[in-house]
Amino acid sequence: MNRLTTSWGEFDLTRFPEDPRDTLRAWDAADEYLLRHLEEVSPSGTVVVLGDRWGALVTALAALSPVQISDSFLGREATRANLARAGVDPSAVRLLTTQDPPPERIDVLLVRVPKSHALLEDQLHRLAPALHEGTVVVGTGMVKEIHTSTLQLFERIIGPTRTSLAVKKARLIFATPDPSITPGPSPWPCTYTLDGDSSAVSGRTAVNHAGVFCADRLDVGTRFFLRHLPGPGAPGRRIVDLGCGNGVVGLAAALTDPDAELLFVDESYQAVASAEATFRAGAAPGTKAEFRVGDGLSDVAPGSVDLVLNNPPFHSHHATTDATARRMFTDARRALRPGGELWVIGNRHLGYHVTLRRVFGNSELIAGDPKFVVLKAVKR
Ligand SMILES: C[S@@+](CC[C@H](N)C(=O)[O-])C[C@H]1O[C@@H](n2cnc3c(N)ncnc32)[C@H](O)[C@@H]1O
Repeated sequence: MNRLTTSWGEFDLTRFPEDPRDTLRAWDAADEYLLRHLEEVSPSGTVVVLGDRWGALVTALAALSPVQISDSFLGREATRANLARAGVDPSAVRLLTTQDPPPERIDVLLVRVPKSHALLEDQLHRLAPALHEGTVVVGTGMVKEIHTSTLQLFERIIGPTRTSLAVKKARLIFATPDPSITPGPSPWPCTYTLDGDSSAVSGRTAVNHAGVFCADRLDVGTRFFLRHLPGPGAPGRRIVDLGCGNGVVGLAAALTDPDAELLFVDESYQAVASAEATFRAGAAPGTKAEFRVGDGLSDVAPGSVDLVLNNPPFHSHHATTDATARRMFTDARRALRPGGELWVIGNRHLGYHVTLRRVFGNSELIAGDPKFVVLKAVKR
């Protein structure tokens, strides 16, 4: 736990899930810079915070009754915990997802620049109609996250844009709404047809809401996974696409096993919406499927699943990557019935076979090329 000190108070903040070994803070210099700037401008009216990672901004600004817009289930859980720890009445802060309709009128728009340029583009398109000439728009991010293309998005969708000086490697973005700008509709979701080399999903349509993993083409690892997925199993078996992204892996399983019951899970609202759209466009009518936003399989009953398919997230932050994959494997083991299987794709160098052996006691190599491996672990 770390303490953020602001003129609105001091706040003990954590990420989600809480991990005592995790030394990473729930805010950064970009959040601090924005909060210091707001002390000078005294914002009022409807305050919307887009992309607040772990809820540091809305927790510090709770007195302004802000609206948070987030694409992350983990981020929202962290926000709820941080607000509760700060003693904030839950009704004081509205938590919206990127899929919810935004407020109709926004007086102050605060944007923590998200990692995904596409998500920023899509959300600015969605929020622009709610802005008016007097709306105060302030973005914030670390210098390395703010590119010329980021500023061009603000400029093109909102209006004239300038940046502040950098402080502690963070920068603010100031955009002045220009009512004469008509940015047109959001280019998202992006839809493409899966080519003839996409195994069971060849010729189907992948629907990608902004910000999902590899939104404009089939990822090479996913393509390799599709080539080596298990064949049909017993009728009615329960299959989970864990970390489903746009859902092509689960769709492939549904096409191979039309009698199966599918569950698509992701922590991103955009991903789950994409998976549902991809499934509806490509699955045989009558195939059973459920779409759930959540943290891994934490809310799936133990021993209730026959097969888990998983392409774990791969971030540049190495420690985080391993931690999420390990949690996903542990979740899968708990959710599987005895004899149930987890199939995983990963970069060869990540050594998932070691983690699987630790969690399941076994790991079998199904396929490999110089870059990727597909591994199977069985719940004994
Ligand atoms: C490498 S992508 C795989 C996407 C898709 N299954 C594919 O193979 O193309 C990993 C996915 O895991 C999701 N993810 C990350 N952390 C998660 C968590 N704690 N619970 C559920 N999904 C998570 C990410 O949002 C992302 O969509």
